[in-house]
Amino acid sequence: MSSHLMPVHHPLPIVVDRAEGVYVWDQSGRKYLDSFGGLAVCLLGHTHPAVTATLSQQIQRCIHTSNALSHPYQEALAAQLCIRTGLSRAFFNNSGAEAIETALKLARIYGHDRGHAAPAILVFDEGFHGRTLATLSASGFPKGQVGYEPLVGPFPRVPFNDMAAVRAACAADPAIVAILIEPIQGAAGIRIAAPGFLQALRTFCDETGRLLITDEIQCGMGRTGYFLNAQSVGVQPDITVLAKGLANGIPIGACLATEALGMTLTAQRHGSTFGGNPLATAAACTVLSVLESESLIPAAGEKGRYLLQQLHTAFGHHPDLVEIRGQGLMVGLEFSRACTHLPLKALSHGLLLNIANQHTVRLLPALTITHAQIDEMVDCLKNTLS
Ligand SMILES: Cc1ncc(COP(=O)(O)O)c(C=O)c1O
Repeated sequence: MSSHLMPVHHPLPIVVDRAEGVYVWDQSGRKYLDSFGGLAVCLLGHTHPAVTATLSQQIQRCIHTSNALSHPYQEALAAQLCIRTGLSRAFFNNSGAEAIETALKLARIYGHDRGHAAPAILVFDEGFHGRTLATLSASGFPKGQVGYEPLVGPFPRVPFNDMAAVRAACAADPAIVAILIEPIQGAAGIRIAAPGFLQALRTFCDETGRLLITDEIQCGMGRTGYFLNAQSVGVQPDITVLAKGLANGIPIGACLATEALGMTLTAQRHGSTFGGNPLATAAACTVLSVLESESLIPAAGEKGRYLLQQLHTAFGHHPDLVEIRGQGLMVGLEFSRACTHLPLKALSHGLLLNIANQHTVRLLPALTITHAQIDEMVDCLKNTLS
């Protein structure tokens, strides 16, 4: 079939007609279980009735105002997110990468205010932060940087989970004013910060006057059993970034910061035409209230433990399996061989599957998934891998 699209994405050979909960139907009426929820976006499942009701009402009332006018939902969402993150100021964007850009700007302002003409932000191998020029420069995937030089920087990079390397890099470069980390590296194949690593980073940042920025775009919003994954180890970031599941599919990004940092982002320094629009922020307010009313965050922790248990039973002895790892409903199965052929194979078993970093099956189902649907997902995966 001829296409007029730039050949960036290579979607699976089905055309989606509709979706509900953890299921998607193609145009021929075939049903699939969605194991990755639009890449961690459909947090409450596809077309959740409460979100659909909010969107339908809001579309009829007002879709867009621009930030030259105010509406009730942006402040309401900011207040809710500040309560849940322990931070004090919010800025809304339209995507994860844009929200990371906001965080990078805050860190640079912080550095300039402390006399650094070229403030640097320390990042980690295989961290993923987006595809704008600054965020791809901050990401630890060299292949995604080829052809875009000169990269934005400085973003000195060290191995994930290596505190000695963090200390050495910072000792060598006093211009490092902040550390940006994905507490669970999603694109790298669900690599979890080692026990004590986030806490050690927090202590180090406190002792040396550096900022700790957590990218919770994929692992946040309750997916791992805590609103922020960093909360699972009692770590409070100076800045955190959310996107993906925040509005259950309506594009949104949010950068949350402390009072002092947030107040530095003044008029003329930043802005957004669409960011914080009524449609996205009303949807996000509903997502937060459903997370609460249906107790989905603690449930994500419990369902995640059940999922890990079922996966260990089903695949523990698979000859090519390296490791099953995860927290809550963010789980990876790493194989010793590339498994990029599996998503196509999974289709014939009624499963939508995603692979991260060539070797890892990445499961990011909706938080509303039931135990029976978890069993069904594991069965489909078993058939796919047999
Ligand atoms: C951890 C993380 N940060 C940033 C991004 C970029 O978000 P977006 O694709 O919405 O720009 C992603 C997207 O996959 C992500 O997983």
